[in-house]
Amino acid sequence: MVQTAAWVTSLFFMLIVTAVFAFVAMNSTEKKDYEPIKKKWYKARTFYGSALIIFFLIITIYTLRDLPYNQPAYGEGREPEIVDVEALQFGWNISETQFKTGEPIEFHVTSADVTHGFGIYDKNLNLIAQTQAMPEYTNKVYITFEQPGTYKILCMEYCGLAHHLMVMEIEVTD
Ligand code: CUA
Repeated sequence: MVQTAAWVTSLFFMLIVTAVFAFVAMNSTEKKDYEPIKKKWYKARTFYGSALIIFFLIITIYTLRDLPYNQPAYGEGREPEIVDVEALQFGWNISETQFKTGEPIEFHVTSADVTHGFGIYDKNLNLIAQTQAMPEYTNKVYITFEQPGTYKILCMEYCGLAHHLMVMEIEVTD
């Protein structure tokens, strides 16, 4: 299906390119005054260029307003629970492992040695949030658990012989 679509699309654009080539080749014998044509298309180019710059400038300004992205807004009296996470070969130091549903949580994730991956998985081992655990740097993960249950923290980046042992469980209750 995808291959057919790719094939048909390629063919379509090949036909367009061929048509353009044929058009240019057929018109190439005609003698025309060059200056007016040049003037006209320079004008078109200036217009097109300015329009592009304005267009992308607007998009850039519009999207940059939201930086940093995905920052949650906490309501009055709803301060997030800050949880410090330190990854190390080969385990996790987590300041809190019991959580409540609906409570906003910020995991502040760093590493004591090499780069690890901090991944939170639900009971079906679906990844629901993740960030990199980097030495001398703190990454934040914003999450509010909606479902009670046992969640797993797994290391997501190969970090040494016992990488697979970097497993930890956190509990979320109603
Ligand atoms: Cu830590 Cu893999």
